[in-house]
Amino acid sequence: MRKLLVPAALLACLALMPFAGAQDKKDNKEEPKYANLTYVPTADEVIDKMFEMAKVGKDDVIFDLGCGDARILYKAAKKYGTRGVGLDINGERIKEAMDQAAKYNVGTLVEVRHGDALKPKDVSDATVVALYMFPEFMNLWLPIAKEKLKPGTRIVSHDYSFSDWTPDQSVTVKSATREHKVHLWIVKGDKK
Ligand SMILES: C[S@@+](CC[C@H](N)C(=O)[O-])C[C@H]1O[C@@H](n2cnc3c(N)ncnc32)[C@H](O)[C@@H]1O
Repeated sequence: MRKLLVPAALLACLALMPFAGAQDKKDNKEEPKYANLTYVPTADEVIDKMFEMAKVGKDDVIFDLGCGDARILYKAAKKYGTRGVGLDINGERIKEAMDQAAKYNVGTLVEVRHGDALKPKDVSDATVVALYMFPEFMNLWLPIAKEKLKPGTRIVSHDYSFSDWTPDQSVTVKSATREHKVHLWIVKGDKK
């Protein structure tokens, strides 16, 4: 009888292991809620329209959430002297972004970080937020934007919109390959 008890207890533990694993995964706070590594750089014509609509200037701080090679930030720094912060979850993109620093020669104006754009520690410093992210990200990011962004912050997005927040302005821009949308939201006092 005693002999049988040990294997039975062991079996019970083994049977529970997959559930324990699933629970660990669920509790792992480091796992990103969204990580789509599709990388398509925004065309220059679209970047210029994003700057124009957001009225980007020298005193702005622009965050690019999902920055890719950070061209948007380097261009803003070069054109207006704007400080920029870029986050990308793909380390390869961040390496490309860092490799471009010498080409743009904008000193320390642009900072790029390998990390999750849904956990931007200091996004409250932003006066402009640039996005080219799929709708799933946009909708996950909306409550963060409402909580963290200051009134007056401009959000400019290439192509994609929030399901639940109508843009203040939307325009169509032509590039060499297709038509693009650019949307602008201005954070109000009540964050909407
Ligand atoms: C379509 S590209 C846009 C690149 C750049 N912003 C532009 O417009 O040229 C989207 C980028 O978002 C990054 N990305 C996806 N999920 C992310 C997340 N949770 N946090 C940070 N970056 C993410 C991808 O690695 C990719 O480089």
